[in-house]
Amino acid sequence: MVFPSLFIETLNSAQKVAVLTGAGISAESGIPTFREAQTGLWSKYRPEDLATPSAFRRDPKLVWEWYQWRRQLIHQSDPNAGHYAIAQLEGLVPSFTVITQNVDGFHQSAGSLNVIELHGNIMRTICFDSGHNVDRWEDNEIPPRCPICRSYLRPDVVWFGEGLPRTALENAIRETRECNVFFAIGTSAVVEPAASLPWIAKENGASLVEVNPSTTPVTPIADYVFHKPAGELLPELVHALKINSTE
Ligand code: OAD
Repeated sequence: MVFPSLFIETLNSAQKVAVLTGAGISAESGIPTFREAQTGLWSKYRPEDLATPSAFRRDPKLVWEWYQWRRQLIHQSDPNAGHYAIAQLEGLVPSFTVITQNVDGFHQSAGSLNVIELHGNIMRTICFDSGHNVDRWEDNEIPPRCPICRSYLRPDVVWFGEGLPRTALENAIRETRECNVFFAIGTSAVVEPAASLPWIAKENGASLVEVNPSTTPVTPIADYVFHKPAGELLPELVHALKINSTE
């Protein structure tokens, strides 16, 4: 792939780059996305049955088991070429931040050092009533109970109707405002507040880049759009940047 020379120059001269990722970056690892018509999780399940505090109050066993299934899927999978390319990009730019909506931890596994998790991490566990962080519990009940307060345990992810972790959101907005180049990769860009980050970047003068096989609300305002899977496009980009820096 031949990238526009202005795009490569813009990236090479950037002091700060921020990357927003969504479920699409993990699709090539075999992790289902949420909103794709045939394969997305929300085409098979209703978020209001599985990903809200009231769903958990109504049927904690169902919700716990659904997340255990997702945890297992992630355990059995690995980061893909897209995650590794993003980790390599970090070494090519003075300041680089990954802002992810994903809960799978694959960016960190691939070697990214500066990762902001906006929606939590599915491998961590907290209790429903008090938010105690728990890494050990007795398995004699589903869901298991908090060893400290006896309330039910749940995954440390953000559900619909819940606020995002405050520091993570503040840091994400700061990095978005300050960056010279902002990438939106593998996200349908419809879930707030993450969906607003591309607009904040653009308003603050960043070049906006989208990597997604499909069109999204970001597409019309992006400066560069690459309609390709992230696992193909991003390694090509790393290659192009490395060649350019040795010329
Ligand atoms: P979505 O499922 O809404 O969107 C995934 C996007 O990835 C789509 O635009 C696809 O076209 C794109 N895509 C698919 N394969 C790709 C590939 N190989 N490379 C690049 N892009 C690809 O997922 P998110 O935008 O992450 O929140 O959804 C945002 C939030 O909604 C999630 O964090 C989750 C969900 O409900 C909560 O659970 C709170």
